[in-house]
Amino acid sequence: MTDFNIHFIDEHDILHKRVLLRVDFNVSLHDNLTIADDARIQQGLPTIKYLLEKGNKLILVSHLDRPEKRDPKLSLKPVVARLQEYLDGFTVKLVDDFLIEPKETFSAQKENEILVLENIRFYAEEKKNDPEFAKKLAELADVYVNDAFGVCHRTDTSVVGVAALIPSYGGLLLKKEIEMISSVIAKPQKPLVAIIGGAKISGKIKFIGRLLELADYLLVGGGLANNFIAAQGFEIGKSLVEYEEIENARRILYMAAQKNTAVVLPSDVVIGEPDNSKEGGEIKKVDEVPQDGYILDIGPETQARFGAIIAKAKTIIWNGPVGLFENPAFGRGTDFIYYAITQNKDAVSVIGGGETLAAVSKKEYLEKITHISTGGGAMLEFIEQGTLPGFEALNNG
Ligand code: 3PG
Repeated sequence: MTDFNIHFIDEHDILHKRVLLRVDFNVSLHDNLTIADDARIQQGLPTIKYLLEKGNKLILVSHLDRPEKRDPKLSLKPVVARLQEYLDGFTVKLVDDFLIEPKETFSAQKENEILVLENIRFYAEEKKNDPEFAKKLAELADVYVNDAFGVCHRTDTSVVGVAALIPSYGGLLLKKEIEMISSVIAKPQKPLVAIIGGAKISGKIKFIGRLLELADYLLVGGGLANNFIAAQGFEIGKSLVEYEEIENARRILYMAAQKNTAVVLPSDVVIGEPDNSKEGGEIKKVDEVPQDGYILDIGPETQARFGAIIAKAKTIIWNGPVGLFENPAFGRGTDFIYYAITQNKDAVSVIGGGETLAAVSKKEYLEKITHISTGGGAMLEFIEQGTLPGFEALNNG
């Protein structure tokens, strides 16, 4: 049971239907070719298998990255190949353009065949919640299932528009995410430590108001921290930053002071060349970053300060790596945060986000984390607003 009026697939008989299944297989890729981390695919498997066991024919819909038009480098081909490896006995087929695909592909779909529509963001209508496009998607199926928690904070056509047109349900991953995150924020054990990082700055900075209320400490790292460092008047060189968000960072520092939440920013950082994977970086105090420097990780002193706070937490919420972890030279801070969380045996911990998943999903001690969420921005917006457009679209109330 969740507080939302959503019908979940395990509470209803969905048998021998054509199911349009929205998943979030927005995985990270190496060189646009191979999947760096397939945690989001793996987490989607229970719903896929559940629906297949009931004789349903599945048409999967996902986005990958943020293309504004067709871009072969962002094809779902690698995702389809990976899915095929997990689904023995089924054939997984990519539908290159469902708008011009012969009708028979869908009408003659076999029960052991799974169709995957090509990256739904290749269609400009996807981001516009376009009614005509929603209709075209809905026409492919008898029912719609949303299992794409990670994108439920968007009002995209395949998340919101389709749900109103055919009977709609929530998938098993969606249910688990809602239940786990709701239970952690309903009555968190204190102290609550929130750690926020990552590169999608503007998507996050607006949505940490509620977290500021809940948290005793907000530890900030990654691209996000640069905005706060700049807001304090320090040089950040050529580091990743969204200048229009610096004002928001100032606002957050002010709000935090009102709420007695300690915002802890890096006191030292690692600077280096983002593309140079061989040479490590150089450690600098936060007021010593040169004009041509790139901040790429938190420094050792910051690790120690963050670590001491994480060690005394009773609830931990972590969203976004604290450095450019894809380059091992700048992944130490993120590793440190991960291990510090897993070593705290008394805390309930929720970690989430596409990048965070990619940073930790192959590591040991994953079982020590209470909940690993597939949502990054979605998790933060859910905490902030208590609901998401994707849930509301499924609301049967
Ligand atoms: C994510 O990675 O957070 C989700 O897949 C949503 O992607 P978006 O931020 O591009 O909408």
